[in-house]
Amino acid sequence: MALTGIFLILFLIVHVALNACVFANDGGVMFNHGAHFMGSNIVPRLLEIGLFLGFFLHIIQGLMLEFQNRSKRKKGYAVPMGNKGSKWYSRSMGLLGTLILIFLVIHISHFWYPNRSHQGFVLGEEINLYERMQTVFQKEWVVIVYVLGCISLAWHLVHGFESAFRTIGVSNKKYLLMLRATGIAFSIIVPLAFAMMPVSFYLGWLK
Ligand code: HEM
Repeated sequence: MALTGIFLILFLIVHVALNACVFANDGGVMFNHGAHFMGSNIVPRLLEIGLFLGFFLHIIQGLMLEFQNRSKRKKGYAVPMGNKGSKWYSRSMGLLGTLILIFLVIHISHFWYPNRSHQGFVLGEEINLYERMQTVFQKEWVVIVYVLGCISLAWHLVHGFESAFRTIGVSNKKYLLMLRATGIAFSIIVPLAFAMMPVSFYLGWLK
């Protein structure tokens, strides 16, 4: 679960960095250039198959972990510890993950699916993804769904980032504070940068 989680964190870095080109506010020239490379080159297209496999494995591993945890303790605790024993978000990873999955299904239907079906699912001509963003992010409910998806992602990462690195052994006293600070910074900066995209299109900051 830690390894697929770190793999998905790496994907988020690439995705947010490429999408941040929209903030150049150059009518989508820079962003479409990058998106064209990702959509027309065989290497990122093959990595994309690994990405979908990574999401699938992460979900299956999460479900297995949840079932294992539940089967170990069939009866609840006599005294609920609340946030003293663990934080609410670390106990809600399944729920937060489900919200992200719902967001992803909507998100894929907005961009990835129309683009790939236009290409005939091979290396054909792509749609103008910047124009597509401008159109999609005109609807208020869509912007709200995206912002909620980004908030779910932020809380999922607050626990997931630190937990994944601790699982692979980055957990001694010397590095723990640094790891925690990096995890929290990542969990705020990346979802915030993502959320600013639909908001900026909706408010007309990006033309
Ligand atoms: C909120 C701002 C976001 C915007 C504007 C955005 C935009 C896009 C666009 C334009 C594509 C299509 C790329 C293509 O067809 O080549 C895409 C694909 C994708 N996005 Fe996002 N995205 C956002 C957030 C996210 C988040 C938070 C996640 C994950 C939790 C995510 C996961 C994906 C996945 C899995 C794909 C398909 C894989 C791929 O094309 O490589 N996106 N996104």
